[in-house]
Amino acid sequence: METDKPYLTLHVRLGERSYPIIVGSGVLQSAPAQLCALQPSQLVLITHPHLAQWYGEPLKASLERQGVPTCLLTVPPGERTKRWEVAGRLLRQMAQRALDRRCIVVALGGGVVGDLAGFVSACYLRGVRTVQVPTTLLAQVDSSVGGKTGVNLPEGKNLVGAFHQPSLVLIDTDTLKTLPHRHFRAGLAEVLKYGIIADEALWQLVKDESVHLRQGHSPRLADIIYRCCEIKANIVSEDETEQGVRAILNFGHTVAHALESVVGYGRLLHGEAVSIGMVSAALLGESLGITPVGTAEEIADALRALGLPVALPHGVEFESLLGVMARDKKARDGQVRFVLIERIGQARLPVAVKEKEVLHALSVHRQKFNPEAAS
Ligand SMILES: NC(=O)c1ccc[n+]([C@@H]2O[C@H](COP(=O)([O-])OP(=O)(O)OC[C@H]3O[C@@H](n4cnc5c(N)ncnc54)[C@H](O)[C@@H]3O)[C@@H](O)[C@H]2O)c1
Ligand SMILES: [Zn+2]
Repeated sequence: METDKPYLTLHVRLGERSYPIIVGSGVLQSAPAQLCALQPSQLVLITHPHLAQWYGEPLKASLERQGVPTCLLTVPPGERTKRWEVAGRLLRQMAQRALDRRCIVVALGGGVVGDLAGFVSACYLRGVRTVQVPTTLLAQVDSSVGGKTGVNLPEGKNLVGAFHQPSLVLIDTDTLKTLPHRHFRAGLAEVLKYGIIADEALWQLVKDESVHLRQGHSPRLADIIYRCCEIKANIVSEDETEQGVRAILNFGHTVAHALESVVGYGRLLHGEAVSIGMVSAALLGESLGITPVGTAEEIADALRALGLPVALPHGVEFESLLGVMARDKKARDGQVRFVLIERIGQARLPVAVKEKEVLHALSVHRQKFNPEAAS
C-alpha cells in the first residue's frame, strides 16, 4: 500500500459534514485503505459494466482481501440510467442484501453514477454514507463535490433529488486515460469556467496548457483539477444549498440548458453546451455594459484552443431557446436569470435580464461566431 505518495488533499468545510477530497495520479491504489478507515460494515460499489471491469473488480478484490464485504452493482451507461426506476432497483438490491446503516455506497463513474448512487445513499435507511470516486473530468471538477444528488423524470432533468454530502472524494487522474476524448474535452469547459468566474491565474494556466489539454493530458492536470475542486469547495462551504453565491457556478448554464433541451440531450455533451453558453453570457454582459468589450472573443479563443465548440448549433431557433429559458427554475417574471462576469476571474450573482436583451446577445453570437452566418 502506498501511503506516502504526495497526493493533494483539500477539505470541504461544512461543520460535522466536512470531508476531504484527495487528488492525484494513482489515488485509486490508496482507496482500500481510505475506505477501511471509514469502518464500513459493508461496501456497495455502483458503477457501469466497463468501469467495473477496469476499476471496480480490482477494487472489490482488494477490499475483500482486507476483510470488508463488498458487492458490485452495475447499471448501464448513459443519462437514461439516471432515473427513478433504476434508483428503486438499486435500493431493492441493497435491501435484499440486508445492508445496514453503517454500509457505504461508493459511486465509481461519471456524473450519472455519482448523482444516482448519491441519491440512492441519501434515501436508503434515510441516509447512509457515500464515497465519490469520479472517473470523468466533469465529475472530478464538478458533480462529485458539493452534495447535489438526484435523478431525472420524464418531465425534466434533475427534478427529484437531495443534498447529501459524501464522506470522502477520491479523484484518480489516471482514470481519465480511458475516458473518450470528446468527454474529456467537454469537461475542460467546466474547468475553464472556474477560471472565468473565480480565478484569473487558473484561466491563464489552462490557456498555457491548452495544447496538452486538448490531447487529453497535461503535467499540470492534477493541479488544475485540485484548483477547480478548491474553488467549488469554498463556494459550497459558504452556500451549501444555493441560496446565494453557489449560483455563480451556473455561468454559461442558462443558454447551455436551453441548448441541451432544444438540440436534444446526447447530441451535444453538457460541457459542449456550456462552452457555447459561456460565449453567449459574455456577449450579453458586454451588451449590458457589465463585461469589458472583447471578453467574449477572448473566452471563445481559449475554448477553441481546447477543441471546444463556440458557435450556436445550426438551425436552432432563438424563440425555442427562450421558451426553455423561461420555463427554467431560475427564470422569474418573464425575465431570465443570468450569471455575468465583470472581468475574467470575477463573476457577479445572477441578474434578471429582459428577453429582448437575450435575443440581441444571441443574434450577435450567431453573427460573430457562426462561420455560415458570415458568408
Ligand atoms: N451533482 C452535480 O452537482 C452535478 C453537476 C454537473 C453535472 N451533473 C450531472 O452529471 C451527469 C453528466 O456526467 P458526465 O459528463 O460525467 O457523464 P457520464 O457519467 O454519463 O459519463 C460519460 C461517459 O463516460 C463513461 N466513462 C466514465 N468514466 C470513464 C472512464 N474513466 N473511462 C471510460 N469511460 C468512462 C461513462 O460510462 C459514460 O458513457 C449529468 O447527469 C448531470 O446532470 C451533476
Ligand atoms: Zn455544468
